[in-house]
Amino acid sequence: MTKRLLTKVWPESIITNMTDKNSTTVNKNSTVTLRKVTKENLREIFALEVTPKQSKYVATNEMSIAQAYFDREIAWFRAIYADETPVGFLMLSDDASKQEYFIWRLMIDAKYQKLGFAKRAMELLFDYVRTRPGAKEILVSYVPGDEGPQGFYEKLGFTPTGEMEGDEVLMRRDL
Ligand SMILES: CC(C)(COP(=O)(O)OP(=O)(O)OC[C@H]1O[C@@H](n2cnc3c(N)ncnc32)[C@H](O)[C@@H]1OP(=O)(O)O)[C@@H](O)C(=O)NCCC(=O)NCCS
Repeated sequence: MTKRLLTKVWPESIITNMTDKNSTTVNKNSTVTLRKVTKENLREIFALEVTPKQSKYVATNEMSIAQAYFDREIAWFRAIYADETPVGFLMLSDDASKQEYFIWRLMIDAKYQKLGFAKRAMELLFDYVRTRPGAKEILVSYVPGDEGPQGFYEKLGFTPTGEMEGDEVLMRRDL
């Protein structure tokens, strides 16, 4: 069955992952979980991609996991799943020594965006950070620009601190 036929048959909010062994369907009601990246799911996580226009806003997952290897003390990363389908990736700079918690990476594959998965993944991340020493706020920085994540973070309650991190705007949110 071609992709074109699939979009005619089902509403846009339902996406069938035909590459998945079980041909699973994810939708707005799918259960979002954060799971460890393992040697079993690594290739699936590497295969997740944002749109070409969004690629300037986030590193590839290969790059993020390589960086995590060299920053093992602070890099806390997870795959984002919707039901049993990997749909995204996040990485936190989890620095208990400074009591500073910074969203380092976040991406949802282009096929699975606008279904609420990033918002739910952020709520799960906030729950994790609340368990960390001295955690009162969470930080993020973003590259400004068209189709960038500014509006997404604003909707989640982040506000600018007034500082920049290089070319990136720094935002914070109470936990
Ligand atoms: C930003 C990103 C993670 C959002 O993922 P998503 O799963 O599509 O987001 P959600 O569906 O959970 O959206 C939650 C809400 O934010 C809104 N939203 C999502 N992306 C938005 C954007 N770029 N601008 C404004 N609002 C946005 C949604 O409309 C939704 O609003 P609602 O709650 O009123 O319905 C995704 O677009 C992405 O991977 N972008 C490329 C990588 C990137 O920029 N990462 C951030 C690096 S700092």
